[in-house]
Amino acid sequence: EKIVLAYSGGLDTSVILKWLKETYDAEIIAFTADIGQKEELDGLEEKALATGASKVYIDDLRDEFAQDFIYPMFQSGALYEGQYLLGTSIARPLIAKRMVDIARAEGATAIAHGATGKGNDQVRFELTAAALAPDIKVIAPWRSEEFRAEFPGRAEMIAYAEKHGIPVQASASKPYSMDRNLLHISFESGMLEDPWFDPSSEENEGMYVLSVSPERAPDKAEYVELTFEQGDCTAINGESLSPLQVMDKLNELGGKHGIGRVDMVENRFVGMKSRGVYETPGGTILFTAHRKMESLTMDRDVMHLRDSLIAKYATLVYNGFWFAPERLAMQALVNESQRNVSGTVRLKLYKGNVIGAGVKSPVSLYNPDIATMEADPSQAYDQGDATGFIRLNALRLKVSSGVEQSRKG
Ligand code: ARG
Ligand code: SIN
Repeated sequence: EKIVLAYSGGLDTSVILKWLKETYDAEIIAFTADIGQKEELDGLEEKALATGASKVYIDDLRDEFAQDFIYPMFQSGALYEGQYLLGTSIARPLIAKRMVDIARAEGATAIAHGATGKGNDQVRFELTAAALAPDIKVIAPWRSEEFRAEFPGRAEMIAYAEKHGIPVQASASKPYSMDRNLLHISFESGMLEDPWFDPSSEENEGMYVLSVSPERAPDKAEYVELTFEQGDCTAINGESLSPLQVMDKLNELGGKHGIGRVDMVENRFVGMKSRGVYETPGGTILFTAHRKMESLTMDRDVMHLRDSLIAKYATLVYNGFWFAPERLAMQALVNESQRNVSGTVRLKLYKGNVIGAGVKSPVSLYNPDIATMEADPSQAYDQGDATGFIRLNALRLKVSSGVEQSRKG
């Protein structure tokens, strides 16, 4: 039997690798997706082999992640509960998709992951697997009673690793859990479980990785220009860039100016509230720029229709329904809505803020001749028409108000 394991090289998935091998008497194929987590990837292959993997895949999925996942999601304007740009949520379907592909290529009957039984990630991995490969079995050791009995805490995992010669980082691990990719870093659990704990304070500030604090950001604002073609950012400061290059560049700029830190208590799909802290420097700039590009180029009712879907779309992504038919249907509408979202947005980055500083487009719908308070040279708008427009809209208000008055006597 062969099992494909989503492997990160951390303590949990290392122990899981060995445990699966023994429990299922199976060949374990370790798979790591490079989606921009950087240094965590060093030495991973040797480590997986030393831990007992029969084969290791480390696949560079960064371009695919940026182009086929981050970009379509940003066209939708998705934001979960008004704050979260879905950095972890959007990565899970890609990881699961590749796992399923590897399982098929290797003739494996099962895939396994190290997500806990209390979180969102298990749902995202498994709903993706169900949508793409309903025949493949999923093993989630953290949901197995035997596994949890054997490993009630980190001490037991470290002891197990030592006993089995699994190389684990000697340094005391961070007192919180991190998940990093091209779009963000998330921080959860440990000391963050107290929602009154302030990670942005001077003494706790060391937690952040991608950004300086707004207080420490440069005193001088920096201008940046983003060019969009049909809703996608294709150039920065006039230089054409791939989606991956755009994300890298914007992360660097945003991080330098203290942009994109979010600290929130969110609602997990499995029912509980959880505290999450996020750094999304590049994504925050892209999100703001995209909205400003739309403000100039998008028809009002198309915009309002698309906007009415934002919470729904964000919840679908958060809950793991990326490959569900309703997300694909909404994406078709979103894509159509982006057909004229082209032009250039100028922004000023300053101490945690993304400030609009100009927008232009060859397909702008904004017409200063129509909007002007001066005499209208286009004659497209007759102010007299507004009298009837208001009168008809006021009709039912007058009727219901009259009824209200007569009821009061
Ligand atoms: N709360 C965020 C989400 O549900 C982040 C999850 C982080 N996952 C992790 N394995 N550290 O999308
Ligand atoms: C986990 O529980 O494995 C991480 C957090 C989450 O999935 O929400």
